[in-house]
Amino acid sequence: MRPRKGFIIILFFFASFGFLDPVVLAENTSFEFPSFNFRNISLLGDSYLRNGVIGLTRSVDVPTSSAGSIIYNNPITFFDPETNITASFSTKFAFSINNVNPSSFGDGLTFFISPSNQTLGSPGGYLGLVNSSQLTSNKFVAVEFDTRMDSHLNDPSENHVGLDIDSMNSIKTAEPIVQGIDLKSGNFITAWIDYKNEQGKLMVFLSYYSLKPEKPTLSVDISLSNYLKGIMYVGFSASTEGSTELHQIQNWSFQTSGFLAPRPNLQPHNVSDNSVTAVGVDIPKTGSSKKHEKKLGLGVAIAGPAFFFVVLSVLVYVSVKKLRDVRRQKIFRTDFVACPREYNYKELKLATKGFHPSRIIGHGSFGTVYKAFFISTGTIAAVKRSRHSHDGKTEFLAELSIIAGLRHKNLVQLQGWCVEKGELLLVYEFMPNGSLDKMLYLEPERGHLLNWSHRVNIAIGLASVLSYLHQECEQIVIHRDIKAGNILLDGNFNPRLGDFGLAKLMDHDKSPVSTLTAGTMGYLAPEYLQYGKATEKTDVFSYGVVVLEVACGRRPIEREGTKMVNLVDWVWGLHSQGKIIEAADKRLKEEFIEEEMKKLLLLGLSCANPDSADRPSMRRVLQILNNEAACLPVPKLKPSLIFSCSLPLSIDEIVSDGEEDNKRNSMCEIKIVSDSEESNTSHSMCVDKD
Ligand SMILES: *[C@@H]1O[C@H](CO)[C@@H](O)[C@H](O)[C@H]1NC(C)=O
Ligand SMILES: *[C@@H]1O[C@H](CO)[C@@H](O)[C@H](O)[C@H]1NC(C)=O
Ligand SMILES: *[C@@H]1O[C@H](CO)[C@@H](O)[C@H](O)[C@H]1NC(C)=O
Ligand SMILES: *[C@@H]1O[C@H](CO)[C@@H](O)[C@H](O)[C@H]1NC(C)=O
Ligand SMILES: *[C@@H]1O[C@H](CO)[C@@H](O)[C@H](O)[C@H]1NC(C)=O
Ligand SMILES: *[C@@H]1O[C@H](CO)[C@@H](O)[C@H](O)[C@H]1NC(C)=O
Ligand SMILES: *[C@@H]1O[C@H](CO)[C@@H](O)[C@H](O)[C@H]1NC(C)=O
Repeated sequence: MRPRKGFIIILFFFASFGFLDPVVLAENTSFEFPSFNFRNISLLGDSYLRNGVIGLTRSVDVPTSSAGSIIYNNPITFFDPETNITASFSTKFAFSINNVNPSSFGDGLTFFISPSNQTLGSPGGYLGLVNSSQLTSNKFVAVEFDTRMDSHLNDPSENHVGLDIDSMNSIKTAEPIVQGIDLKSGNFITAWIDYKNEQGKLMVFLSYYSLKPEKPTLSVDISLSNYLKGIMYVGFSASTEGSTELHQIQNWSFQTSGFLAPRPNLQPHNVSDNSVTAVGVDIPKTGSSKKHEKKLGLGVAIAGPAFFFVVLSVLVYVSVKKLRDVRRQKIFRTDFVACPREYNYKELKLATKGFHPSRIIGHGSFGTVYKAFFISTGTIAAVKRSRHSHDGKTEFLAELSIIAGLRHKNLVQLQGWCVEKGELLLVYEFMPNGSLDKMLYLEPERGHLLNWSHRVNIAIGLASVLSYLHQECEQIVIHRDIKAGNILLDGNFNPRLGDFGLAKLMDHDKSPVSTLTAGTMGYLAPEYLQYGKATEKTDVFSYGVVVLEVACGRRPIEREGTKMVNLVDWVWGLHSQGKIIEAADKRLKEEFIEEEMKKLLLLGLSCANPDSADRPSMRRVLQILNNEAACLPVPKLKPSLIFSCSLPLSIDEIVSDGEEDNKRNSMCEIKIVSDSEESNTSHSMCVDKD
């Protein structure tokens, strides 16, 4: 049965050619590499592929020059002679340019379109795009991301973007530093290049984030119809000059558009309904009845073998593709879900340029955070380095195993650790969008304001992970240090809680309160300040403060003239006057849903209720945010609390203690002085060591 069926198929294959129309119109091309593999890519010169990331220039620190390029194997149609249409195109890719050490530098990279699939030029200012000995023969359209100033090529600076056509002398250049972007920063930069043929306009957009900015970095009015001829190839090139600069491409998508859809009369087959259903139903049931098969073969042969062939090839293509996708997904899973592992000290030292100050990306309660760049794997991570030497290594590792066992999409995943040379280092995923406090207070000054849907998403994500820590994991984990500075944002602005459980580690050395940054004070629940005992409810309080920050765009404690204003009190005051909506972040310019804003503000207040018994659980908060539970009533007046033992502790005192340090964002000691004791003894707060 089977051989015969195969025969029929082969027969149809030949037969169907007669039915296909020979006129084929150009088609739009589209492809995407979320990460790279060897399929469909040619590596030329010094380029290489490692862990799904393309490196364009040599990664070893040698005093030689390097040039490399990669080219997409399949030719791309840019011009259709049949309709006289030149394609428009758009491409998006994420790249990074890294200097391995302060003395290293290089020239930059380009995205190019070329008639040749062998484009590889010379190192140095030629950016691996043109051959220095035959400058005039290469044809290309390229956008350069140039990090070296070559005055003979009329470069404006060592940080510019330009459009190059058949020459390294740019048609037009622009400097991304105007938008705060440094090509050489080592950060991943997303670039968008859009060319609209009808409008005769090419635009280049750049951002450290995956959101496309409104304003282009470079905009050129030009028609490329004289240069985009017929079939061409697309790719990237880069070069260095007697030194090392790493040029990496993380992902890439490209598409052309503008070609006409095929005319309807080019669809060559008019097949009767009968044979369509016969084919669709019977093919899977291979050889259930000989008689039927004969009938089918006969019917198809008469009604339209070409159609049969098309359907069959689609079926085969779909199933092969599915199989391949499944296989690929499996490979991905084993590749990327790696367990935390122990790193060696040398590796981390190398990746952070010897803990170079230029690599510092933050200071946490635990120590300094560095950006680490692992050359061998081409990956980026954040490394936390503790200031304290840890003698209790076993305890530390036991603690670490709890943290490492936690998995939630809104947690910053721990990738590994290192205990060596009396130092304690933790390796985490790198979060490209930094911390929430940066996005709320610093970025808006540079024109990046978190929009409303991102803010709601942050409140929900955070509630989800806290609900997990408090209720869903095997062991209750109390974070103890929830604040905007500990909430990081991934590439899509999803919140990721970091630094958790570490306060517990600190207990062995010092009480956490003594090492809290002053900025933390506004987040602490009154009973925590009073008794120093952390519970789920103290986390809920801190969460409430963060939610209010996100809704109002104000810090938990903000200076107004000489006064320090507490955010919770301020919002509660507006609520008492029945105008809570006035607390909404003015910078949003009313671009939010009023009901949602009110809900978030009231939820923030109920979480920040001074009375811990009245605060909702995180699970309840999540239900409220997901509209699965009703909002909680919030009393018009902020409840006041009376503590049995009275420590005269006011927020203002604490804040004025740490004010200057707060500005410098460094550590500060907070002493809580009790009047009731005659000698001015300073209390360090006792913290539970459950
Ligand atoms: C790779 O090329 C094949 C055909 O040669 C094509 O079917 C496939 O979609 C290409 N993959 C990508 C990511 O472009
Ligand atoms: C491409 O890579 C960058 C940097 O890692 C990332 O921010 C971005 O989300 C990625 N884009 C896609 C479409 O995968
Ligand atoms: C094709 O279009 C260009 C403008 O895009 C025009 O100058 C040229 O004359 C056209 N050629 C033909 C054969 O229509
Ligand atoms: C370049 O394209 C030609 C056809 O134009 C093809 O024969 C050759 O294999 C291609 N080379 C590479 C490296 O893809
Ligand atoms: C440049 O072209 C010359 C002559 O074709 C060739 O010998 C040389 O290898 C090329 N250089 C590069 C870097 O491609
Ligand atoms: C190509 O893209 C254009 C949109 O720019 C679309 O109108 C057209 O139908 C597409 N052509 C084909 C053949 O898919
Ligand atoms: C296709 O066949 C149907 C009848 O089966 C007929 O009405 C229709 O006109 C045909 N279309 C073409 C383009 O021949």
